[in-house]
Amino acid sequence: MSAIIRSKVKDLLKMAAGTEVLAKGWVRTKRGNKEIAFIALNDGSTIKNIQIVVDKNGETEGILSRISTGACIGVKGQLVSSVGSGQDVEIHAEEITVYGECDPMRYPLQKKDTSFEYLRTVAHMRPRTNTFGAVLRLRSQMAYAIHKYFHSKGFVYLNTPLITASDCEGAGQMFQVTTLDLNNVPKNKKGQPDFSKDFFGKQTSLTVSGQLEGELGATALGEIYTFGPTFRAENSNTPRHLAEFWMVEPEMAFYDIKDNMDLAEDFIKHLVKYALDNCRDDIQFLNDRYDDTLIERLEGVIGTEFVRLPYTEGVRILEEAVAGGHKFEYPVSWGIDLQSEHERYLVEEHFKRPVILTDYPKDIKAFYMKQNEDGKTVRAMDVLFPKIGEIIGGSEREANLSILESRVDELKMSRKNLEWYIDTRRFGSCPHSGFGLGFERLLLFITGMQNIRDVIPFPRTPKNAEY
Ligand code: 4AD
Ligand code: MG
Repeated sequence: MSAIIRSKVKDLLKMAAGTEVLAKGWVRTKRGNKEIAFIALNDGSTIKNIQIVVDKNGETEGILSRISTGACIGVKGQLVSSVGSGQDVEIHAEEITVYGECDPMRYPLQKKDTSFEYLRTVAHMRPRTNTFGAVLRLRSQMAYAIHKYFHSKGFVYLNTPLITASDCEGAGQMFQVTTLDLNNVPKNKKGQPDFSKDFFGKQTSLTVSGQLEGELGATALGEIYTFGPTFRAENSNTPRHLAEFWMVEPEMAFYDIKDNMDLAEDFIKHLVKYALDNCRDDIQFLNDRYDDTLIERLEGVIGTEFVRLPYTEGVRILEEAVAGGHKFEYPVSWGIDLQSEHERYLVEEHFKRPVILTDYPKDIKAFYMKQNEDGKTVRAMDVLFPKIGEIIGGSEREANLSILESRVDELKMSRKNLEWYIDTRRFGSCPHSGFGLGFERLLLFITGMQNIRDVIPFPRTPKNAEY
């Protein structure tokens, strides 16, 4: 396959007929009649395939017999106008190289069963399907859009540590990191594990959030964002929870809760619009294949103002719904941590648009949130989305040193461990706010996929760490 440079399928489909081209990729299907074979070739650059037309004769017979679904081939030939429907151009093959054959009896994607459950059992192969190709391209595009958005606003991309000694959310859902010999753990005088002998000389875990370090960045650089993996050992087997997920966390000096909400709303709308403008083929495919209200839902979000509502009001609406006969699985009363069914009722049935719920009871939120004058609530904001529930969680932060210290004590957290964090309030404290967007929750919304395991290449969930 000399001289000619390989073109990607995405580009080939836009090229003018009459050119000599070289394509490389994986065979999606092979069909044909006595005279010709048609091969649909995909290289991952687009949801679309390029059609390869091969004349059947003594010369091509041998090579065609080695080509089946899943095989990897290279094809040199003329790009010609296609007579068939469905594509403008196709390649009339002159020379074919088989890079890798694919045994039809053993290829996992050859099976009739293409359910998402089945594909999760062969997650090492599923990127080769149309659906996962589309989802993974979208995932990559959205990551790019996130960086672009914040850079255009002058935010600094801050890398926060994955290994940490502090529990940001205080929910005790951390995976421990240790090099101690688990069969022979050194003990201290109290009979507890002696972490001074551990790798870091103290007890460490994988981070649940980069926020605390993000605040250090914001109170020096002004506006920062983090974007990286976070880990939660919560044993919840739901379609919306992963043990390893990616989070985007902007943190901004001099933003109050309202500025924070404005940014969150603008950010999400911008990302949805970016997807519609730049990833149309993949979204159209997902829309047509699985959920023909997807595009409508995406366009709807861009054009709507999000509702902004205090938690107390939200609970009142839910209580009225119960009084009116609506059945929830979990009871509703002021003080509860809202369940996904409650969030979705507010968004999907009551308001029929995204809702930002604010001013939650302080007892169900983390220690760092700014306390309101009522002594009961904090300046929290959760963005709730149709089909997803909570997509963003954030707040204005408590900037007052003594109030923060009292809250840390009240919650029996270790002040000593948090001295470095409390220093931001001790030295030049400033009002500031931030939030965390769950990247996979965003992708659930944008792709219309139903299960969070299907928007990350290699999901980590309870009892599953394959690949
Ligand atoms: O609401 P969360 O727990 O907030 C924080 O971690 C804050 N420190 C963020 C901040 O203010 N900088 O998590 C933020 C978001 C949630 O709204 C949700 O979208 C996502 O992270 N999330 C998860 N996504 C997938 N699997 C899980 N187990 C998740 N837990 C939270
Ligand atoms: Mg939350």
